[in-house]
Amino acid sequence: MGNFIWGGCDVTELAARFGTPLYVMSEDEITSRIRAVRACFDDRYDSCRTYFASKAFLTKDMLRILMREETGLDVVSGGELYLARAVGFPPEMIMFHGNSKTEAEIGCGLDYGVGCFVVDSAEEMLLIDRMASTRGVRPRILMRVTPGVEGHTHKHIATAGVGSKFGVPMELVRDTVSDGMRLRGASLEGFHFHVGSQLMDNACHMAALNIVLELMKRVRDELGFVAGTLDMGGGFGVAYVEGDAPKPIDSFIRPMTERVEEFCAAEGMPRPFLVVEPGRFIVGPAGITLYAVGSVKEVPDIGLCAGVDGGYPDNPRPALYDAKYAAVAANKCGCASLRRTTIVGKCCESGDVLIRDIDLPELERGDIIAVKCTGAYNHSMSSNYNKNPIPAVVMIKDGEPRLSVRRQSFEDMFAMEI
Ligand code: LLP
Repeated sequence: MGNFIWGGCDVTELAARFGTPLYVMSEDEITSRIRAVRACFDDRYDSCRTYFASKAFLTKDMLRILMREETGLDVVSGGELYLARAVGFPPEMIMFHGNSKTEAEIGCGLDYGVGCFVVDSAEEMLLIDRMASTRGVRPRILMRVTPGVEGHTHKHIATAGVGSKFGVPMELVRDTVSDGMRLRGASLEGFHFHVGSQLMDNACHMAALNIVLELMKRVRDELGFVAGTLDMGGGFGVAYVEGDAPKPIDSFIRPMTERVEEFCAAEGMPRPFLVVEPGRFIVGPAGITLYAVGSVKEVPDIGLCAGVDGGYPDNPRPALYDAKYAAVAANKCGCASLRRTTIVGKCCESGDVLIRDIDLPELERGDIIAVKCTGAYNHSMSSNYNKNPIPAVVMIKDGEPRLSVRRQSFEDMFAMEI
């Protein structure tokens, strides 16, 4: 039996050194995934930018990697913006999203000089315009539209169907653009759409793109509004378990850029500045989570049940989206005899089951479990439920681990108590 090596490190040693539960991220993997997007987007289309969707994973270290790679940042809250400011992330490389931004958040964005706001309604566009005029600044605005395409993904992460809470419904876009053409502080530059998350192929992206390109033509013909920017969102899927077969990133992005070029040439429209906003694709496979096994017992109808020292608070995705994960017993790799096991979390919730029915070596207290592909929406969605502290984050580069975010202490957790 051997130990599981990941990112050039023996993760059983990482667990012993940094404690569990532990988020482990690979800087090399993050960098190579950013560069993979670059290779099929930024390097192929003459005017474009990739913005990382920071909701997927946001730490100071992550921001520094993005700055080094000259990648933009999509933020959706005052908190995400605050951390970006804290490391001096260039404001002109930030895009401010969110369907219900507060005035305080908009104010912070304007004061920091955020380059672009994505608005979700006419009301919000007019508010940003007024606030920008008062400050004498002129941010760019993209209008998020709802193309009415149903994303082929879990219903909680599909975002562009008719009735979605996001964006301006298609039937209101024309009037909203017409309002946008009269802005005085801000300037309406174009459109944004995001079809959903964890999509396995480009069918929904292409369907939405075609609808939005027709919309761009319509507002040009009817209102004389020429969209200078088109943001095509994120949503590019990753493989969590065997059998997941997402299409390569190139097969999402290249056909979209080609379609834009072809449409614009055919319609005599200038090519827009293009944007994509991947989150999960960049960080999902670049992270694993380590747990220590606690109680192991036989449960009728379920079989062998191994409890670990984390679960719902560090990974709510199985409970929220029925998400599936793969895992290994990190200190018992290569063991020939396997038992069908269910890995359960430590929270007082029956739904806190990390993985059902996975074949693992016979587990006992103290074994280390490495759950794979936990780099996206795990650290960022972690909570203190049952007053469990947020795990530390270790970042590995060139086989060298470093503490990136320290483990939350009980003092940290209760620091706001009066
Ligand atoms: N752009 C916009 C406007 C978005 O709403 C999102 C994700 C993205 C980009 C990035 O999508 P990605 O490339 O990561 O799929 N918590 C859920 C995912 C929610 C995604 C929300 N929006 C999960 O854990 O699966």
